[in-house]
Amino acid sequence: MQEGFYRDTWVEVNLDAISQNVSAMKKLIGEQTKIIAVVKANAYGHGAIQVAHAALESGASMLAVAFLDEAIQLRQAGFDCPILVMGATRAQDVHVAVSYGITLTIFSLDWAKEASQYVDQGDVLLHVKVDTGMGRLGVTGVDELQAILEFAQEHEHFHIEGIFTHFATADETNSPYYLKQLAKFQEVIADVPKGNLLIHCANSAAGLKDKASLYNAVRQGISMYGLTPSVEMKKELPFELHEAFSLKTKLVHVKQLKKGDKVSYGATYEAEENEWIGTLPIGYADGWLRKLQDSEVLIEGKRMQLVGRICMDQCMVKLPYELPVGTNVTLIGRQGNEVISSDEVAERLETINYEVPCTISSRVPRIFFKKQRIIEKANPLLLKRPGKV
Ligand SMILES: Cc1ncc(COP(=O)(O)O)c(C=O)c1O
Repeated sequence: MQEGFYRDTWVEVNLDAISQNVSAMKKLIGEQTKIIAVVKANAYGHGAIQVAHAALESGASMLAVAFLDEAIQLRQAGFDCPILVMGATRAQDVHVAVSYGITLTIFSLDWAKEASQYVDQGDVLLHVKVDTGMGRLGVTGVDELQAILEFAQEHEHFHIEGIFTHFATADETNSPYYLKQLAKFQEVIADVPKGNLLIHCANSAAGLKDKASLYNAVRQGISMYGLTPSVEMKKELPFELHEAFSLKTKLVHVKQLKKGDKVSYGATYEAEENEWIGTLPIGYADGWLRKLQDSEVLIEGKRMQLVGRICMDQCMVKLPYELPVGTNVTLIGRQGNEVISSDEVAERLETINYEVPCTISSRVPRIFFKKQRIIEKANPLLLKRPGKV
């Protein structure tokens, strides 16, 4: 049993892989271009605080998240670097960002006007979001951008420190839409006095493939975690990515079923002969989704098949022979020469690799490794509550 948690299912996060991926990106984009480490959604399920430390130690100089709460979590953990909230923040919460020195995204003139009514002291640090084709947040043209810049100039508490956009198709090879967005961004910011503004538009995909997208910074997300932005980009990566996320469990029960015995809800799996079946303490409530029925896991370095429906907390694997309770099982990661990558799981789930680590729920403890040694275990379920033992 791993001290710090009391179940035999856990995620291992290799922080050296995070460091390698950030250093490699830094080498690729050059000293002049900053790395903004995207650690939203608990660092894509990896663990925001630990990943942020590794990223900043390896060449990133700023963090980005989606929501103010995530930024506050990082400040409260002691990070004093710039932290950008890329999503929308409620205008009435702007003073909270001011008190924490967190940078917000200004995405419309209406938002700017409303937010200005809630601030009468301190500095509101802002990056303007330009919508060049995502159809999501952001100003859509030069006029609104100019109006925002003028509005900010007249408002003593507003400080515009950056301008950015986000690509919809940077992960596609030869995407005319990507080029169109880049051209629109260039056009929209053409007459803006750049001064010390941090201008950034590249996500991992753009940063990996197109120097023209770099400006002052790359917002590195998926590639920091060692995953490719898309399957098609895999063939043309400029450096090797190191996957940081593994998902592991153990056999907690092993039994022999007789020919004709059934397994799991719906009794959909029937033993064709006398079969050894192992029970794994992981299920769809952990993010090991029902669609992963019949997928493979690694035991003793070999692929073995899950059988029957995946339950909320457990699932079953067909074993070639009796194996001891406590045998290690890898659901994502390497065992011997075999690897099950997040890409493979994503393919099974008919989704993108981004969704795989994000989906592994907070019920699964995270163990952080550096130089092959455990440096921390995080189990949100067992955080000590004040006043309770
Ligand atoms: C605005 C913004 N910038 C950057 C990123 C990072 O993108 P990637 O994970 O593809 O590097 C994201 C992620 O979705 C994002 O929403």
